[in-house]
Amino acid sequence: MNGTKHVAVLMGGWSAEREVSLSTGTACAQALRTAGFRVTEVDVDRKIAETLAALAPDVCFNALHGPIGEDGNIQGLLNIMGLPYTHSGVQASAVAMDKPMAKQVFAKAGLRCPEGVVCSVEDTLAGGVYEAPYVVKPLNQGSSVGVHIVRQGDNHPPVASNWGFGDQVLVEKYIPGRELSVGVFDGEAFCVTEIISKHGFYDYNAKYEDGGSIHVLPAELPDEITAEALSMATRAHASLGCRGVTRSDFRFDDTEKRVGDLYLLEINTQPGMTATSLVPEQAAFRGMAFPELVSRMVEEARCEL
Ligand SMILES: Nc1ncnc2c1ncn2[C@@H]1O[C@H](COP(=O)(O)OP(=O)(O)O)[C@@H](O)[C@H]1O
Ligand SMILES: [Mg+2]
Repeated sequence: MNGTKHVAVLMGGWSAEREVSLSTGTACAQALRTAGFRVTEVDVDRKIAETLAALAPDVCFNALHGPIGEDGNIQGLLNIMGLPYTHSGVQASAVAMDKPMAKQVFAKAGLRCPEGVVCSVEDTLAGGVYEAPYVVKPLNQGSSVGVHIVRQGDNHPPVASNWGFGDQVLVEKYIPGRELSVGVFDGEAFCVTEIISKHGFYDYNAKYEDGGSIHVLPAELPDEITAEALSMATRAHASLGCRGVTRSDFRFDDTEKRVGDLYLLEINTQPGMTATSLVPEQAAFRGMAFPELVSRMVEEARCEL
């Protein structure tokens, strides 16, 4: 009986994605209550171990985004405390969060990613790493936080002087074309969504402003491109040993409609989970309502130790 299970929804925290996590957590808590669970919403701070020890939930639903919640840290704590949790474990989370590291694993698994290099902020500011257009991004953030696209003719520095994401950045060749995303649950892909952004690119505002972007699902694509995106997302999930839900982000240069022009940008081990976020929307499209999705995630929650 769901009613006898006590689920702590871990949310908030202190990453740059705190607000996004509060939205995810509130929505998941509501869906879990609808599904009949006893739910406590927990805003994560440095006293989280004491809070959880006192609360003693049956399962932790991880609704955190960004460092601490998405990079293996909270997962390690929950393993040590013996509290089963949703989503990926320590290693998959840590590797997925480190974009250059994840790209090395993806390359070994034969998954196409945009060409890129890790550079110092200094060298990147000096220019000349790649001819524009190119993309500069933090090694380990999400929600497009800190992502800059340098277009042809731009001469302003791609990284602001108050850049707060470390001494190094990932510089990638810009892939023109369309933005696609594929959610995976239990090793199976849901479907492909195309995101049409009303801003210059799929930046933080396009992601979270009402009407900032339009989702088309299933994406209108040639069958072989859809099949390739679904296959790449499940392979990316498996290559890192991910668990529960993940979401893989792609760019597709559709000038020639070739499978070889589909590129994996990254995998998210803690994708956004409000009712209108990409993954719950794809699950609903496949007939799995939000309360059912979160229930199934709770059922397969576990510890690694
Ligand atoms: N190499 C690239 N070519 C074109 N657009 C890119 C590239 N890398 C990132 N972007 C754009 O920036 C967005 C955020 O980048 P992503 O790598 O997914 O990081 P985040 O973890 O911040 O979501 C993407 O959804 C895409 O719109
Ligand atoms: Mg992304």
